[in-house]
Amino acid sequence: MTSYLLKGVSVLGGSPTDLLIKDGVIASGAGKADETIDATGLVALPGLVDLHTHLREPGREDAETVETGSRAAALGGYTAVFAMANTSPVADTAGVVEQVWRLGREAGLVDVQPIGAVTVGLAGKQMAELGAMATSAANVRIFSDDGHCVADPRLMRRALEYVKAFDGIIAQHAEEPRLTEGAQMHEGEVSTRLGLTGWPAVAEEAIIARDVLLAEHVGSRLHVCHVSTAGSVEVLRQAKARGVRVTAEVTPHHLLLTDELAASYDPVYKVNPPLRTAKDVEALRQALIEGVIDIVATDHAPHAVEDKECEWAYARPGMVGLETALPVVLSVLGEQWELIAERMSRAPARIAGLTGHGTDLSPGSPANLTLVDPAARRVVDPAELASRSRNTPYAGTTLPGRIVATFLRGEPTVLDGKAVK
Ligand code: DOR
Ligand code: ZN
Repeated sequence: MTSYLLKGVSVLGGSPTDLLIKDGVIASGAGKADETIDATGLVALPGLVDLHTHLREPGREDAETVETGSRAAALGGYTAVFAMANTSPVADTAGVVEQVWRLGREAGLVDVQPIGAVTVGLAGKQMAELGAMATSAANVRIFSDDGHCVADPRLMRRALEYVKAFDGIIAQHAEEPRLTEGAQMHEGEVSTRLGLTGWPAVAEEAIIARDVLLAEHVGSRLHVCHVSTAGSVEVLRQAKARGVRVTAEVTPHHLLLTDELAASYDPVYKVNPPLRTAKDVEALRQALIEGVIDIVATDHAPHAVEDKECEWAYARPGMVGLETALPVVLSVLGEQWELIAERMSRAPARIAGLTGHGTDLSPGSPANLTLVDPAARRVVDPAELASRSRNTPYAGTTLPGRIVATFLRGEPTVLDGKAVK
């Protein structure tokens, strides 16, 4: 196994030092290595962990595969991603989650951890075989019907009760379906002006309020996907103050973009939950800094051209995000490396119980890390993305930070900004 010496690297913004990667771990002291990387001006972070990625395999390999999504993740600085269950077939059995897990191992670019569906076929009617997925080789601990809300409160309660036995998590896509029928964008001034059916903030807030009460009642763990409104932040703030076992994520796009973009009618800005107002964006940023929102998760949602480059009303919701997440967060938070490491690596690993990721870069730790050049600027070019899909809202935008290298258990997956395989 090739050893690497990262010369003059800044660990989490600290003063320059040498970091030796040997036999899959961070070695103690400097010393000789097979390869030396001049890391002057580069920042080392623990490898990023994404709790919310859509990899589209099985079923929509034209939009993404486990391998292409893994490559996009590595290029974005990730060493582990959690694959959402809304594939075709749905990941609602041990067979499908094991397939995704195995494909991830074969690609070998990031650790791919499947998320299992809560209900059969994401239909919201009957609980899926959560136990069989938990005891499968994929060792599933997080369950989600993401893309759909587990709207039935009785089913939600049962699922929370079921996963409590093995300290599992229900990750909820909070969207009261009756309140969002026909919704095309955030309900507000802009939707009124454009004449598009609105997706009201209360449809998210009402489900989060209900679910934190259910989680509190059952004593189980709830994770809230892609929080998008200021009101949701207040519900979470109160629940956390009461000691409810709830965690929450925000996407990079909800930290940066607003509903004004829908005025272009460019479906690249169509996403679920929708882009909200500047006031919501500000509340989400503040909540992330304070820790009311625990993590950043991408909701990387690749879509084929025919599903995205069409009329707004017919376009699928979602944006690719793995390759731009860190640059977007850098543009929002600035070079707050400790905070970034916490929200994008340590906390997601801790929430998921994922060992070996999100650890300190100290001797003996698995060498899962990424090297960032914070001084670099990049104009996002959709044609250069490793993802099989092109639906980025940042085309032509200049973003700070370039991911120079990523290591998975001491093996480079990215070097010189390029995927190794
Ligand atoms: O925008 C979204 N796209 N939101 C979701 O909840 C699902 C996702 C997808 O699967 O495309
Ligand atoms: Zn979702």
